[in-house]
Amino acid sequence: MPEERPVLVVDLGGQYSQLIARRVRECRVYSELVGHTISLDAVRARKPYAIILSGGPKSVYADNAPRVDPGLFELGIPTLGICYGMQLMALELGGEVERTGVSEFGKTALHSSGGALWGDLPEDEIVWMSHRDSVVAPPAGARVTSTSPSTPVASFEAPERGLYGVQFHPEVAHTPRGIELLKNFLYEVADAPPAWTPAAVIEEQVGRIRTQVGSERVLCALSGGVDSAVAALLVHKAVGDQLTCVLVDHGLLRRDEADQVVETFGEHFHVPLVHVRAQERFLELLDGVEEPELKRKIIGREFIRVFEEEARRLGDVRWLVQGTLYSDVIESGGTEGVAATIKSHHNVGGLPDDMQLDLVEPLRLLFKDEVRRVGEELGMPERMVWRQPFPGPGLAIRIVGAVTEERLEILRESDAILLEEIRRAGLYRELWQSFAVLPTIRSVGVQGDERTYGYPIVIRAVTSDDAMTADWARLPYDVLETISGRIVNEVPGVNRVVLDLTSKPPATIEWE
Ligand code: XMP
Repeated sequence: MPEERPVLVVDLGGQYSQLIARRVRECRVYSELVGHTISLDAVRARKPYAIILSGGPKSVYADNAPRVDPGLFELGIPTLGICYGMQLMALELGGEVERTGVSEFGKTALHSSGGALWGDLPEDEIVWMSHRDSVVAPPAGARVTSTSPSTPVASFEAPERGLYGVQFHPEVAHTPRGIELLKNFLYEVADAPPAWTPAAVIEEQVGRIRTQVGSERVLCALSGGVDSAVAALLVHKAVGDQLTCVLVDHGLLRRDEADQVVETFGEHFHVPLVHVRAQERFLELLDGVEEPELKRKIIGREFIRVFEEEARRLGDVRWLVQGTLYSDVIESGGTEGVAATIKSHHNVGGLPDDMQLDLVEPLRLLFKDEVRRVGEELGMPERMVWRQPFPGPGLAIRIVGAVTEERLEILRESDAILLEEIRRAGLYRELWQSFAVLPTIRSVGVQGDERTYGYPIVIRAVTSDDAMTADWARLPYDVLETISGRIVNEVPGVNRVVLDLTSKPPATIEWE
C-alpha cells in the first residue's frame, strides 16, 4: 500500500511546505508533512522512500532557527533540501552559508551542468528564487550542479550519500519544470513508484473502514458538500447499509440542493438516507433575529438538536463519519510529530461529546483536490464533485437582517439565476465561490410604468486558493449584464443589481 512508505516533508516553517507535500502526491507518491523536531526513530519507523526539507523564513544563523537532527543525513535515505532546507543541509554537513548581501527574488535564469535531478531537462531553465542567505560552498564531497547570475551554488548533489539541495523552489508554478525535477528525485533517485492513485486510496480506505467499524452501525451528516459526500460514499462502499446518512434540511439551502442530494445518494447510490425537513423549526427560531453571530449560533444549535433526535431514533449507532481533511489535521495539531499521531480533530460542526460516537475519518490523509479525484473515481456526479464551498448556516448569512420565507425566496431565486449564468459562461470551476446576497436596504426603481421600491441583489464572486485570502473576480461585462437583466426581470421584489468589488481582507467572503 502506498501509504506504508511515505515521502516525509519536513516542515521548517516555509510558506510552501504543504504545497511540497501536495506536489509530491501529484507525482502519485504518498507524502506526509512532519515537524522538524521529529526523532530519528520516528523517521526510521515510517520507512520513507525519501525526505524533503522545506524552505523557511529564517536565516540559518538566526536565534531559534529551526533545525533537524543531523543524524537524519546519515540514515541513507535520499534527502532533498529546498531553499532553507538546502542551506541547513550545507551548514550541517561542512558547507558554507553566507549572507552575501545579494538577495534573489523572483524568476531567475539558471544554468545547470547536469546531475540526477536534472535528468533530460535542458541546461538553461527558469526557476523561482526567494532567499537572502546563499550557500557559497556545498557540503563536503558534494558537486555543484547549477548556478544563477547571483547564486554560485543554486543546487548541489552528493549521490553516494543520497543528498540533494536546490536553492530555488521546484514546487511553485513559477518554476515551469519544477515538477519534472521533483519526479526525477522521486522516481530516479528515491525509486518511489507512482502508486498513489485515487483507486489505491479507495482500496486502502475501504479496508481500513471495515477493520475499524466491524459490523457496527455508522451515521453521517450529509450537507451536499463534497467532503461529507465523498466520506459517506467511501464508508458506504466499505460497510454498505450499516451506514445511514442524515440530511438536515434547515430550509436555508440553495434551490434544488436537497433534492439533488436525495437523488444522488438515495436513488443513484442507494445509500440509506433520512431527509429531515426542518425549515419551519429553523425559521421560527430565526424570527426577527438580525445579529449575524446570533443567527449562526441559533442555526448551529438547532442543527445539532435535529441531528441528535434522528440519531436517537436510529437506535444503536456507534460511529460518526466526519469529513476531516489532511489540511485540518495539519492545522489543528501543528506538525510536531508524524501526522498520524497528531491529536484527533474534533470539529463535527460542534456535535456534543455526550453523543458518545466514535469518529470515522476516511479523508484524514487527503487534500481537497485529492478528495475531488476520489469522488470522481467513485462515480460521483460532476456537479457534486466540483461544488463550490457553501457555509453551514446557508443562505441565512447571505440575507442581511432578519430571515423570512419571503426574503429567502428572493435570494434563492436570484442565486439560482446567478449560478446558472456563471455555469453557462464556463466560469463556475474557476471561481472559489459565486453567489447572491440580499441586503436590507431598498431603493427606488421604475419597471414598466410603475415606480417600484425594491431590494437590490449583490453579486459576490471571488477567486481564492484556501478562503484565507480572496480576490474579487473580474467577471466579464456581458455575463454581469445577463445576470443583472435576468434577476430584475425574473425575481419579484428586486429592482437593482450591484457588484461587490472587495477582496479579503479587508472584507470577508460571506456578508455575515
Ligand atoms: P469568510 O466569510 O470568513 O469565509 O471569508 C471563508 C470561507 O468559509 C466559509 N464559511 C463557512 N463554512 N460554516 C462553514 O462550513 C460556516 O459557518 C461558514 N462561514 C463561512 C465561506 O463560505 C468561505 O468559503
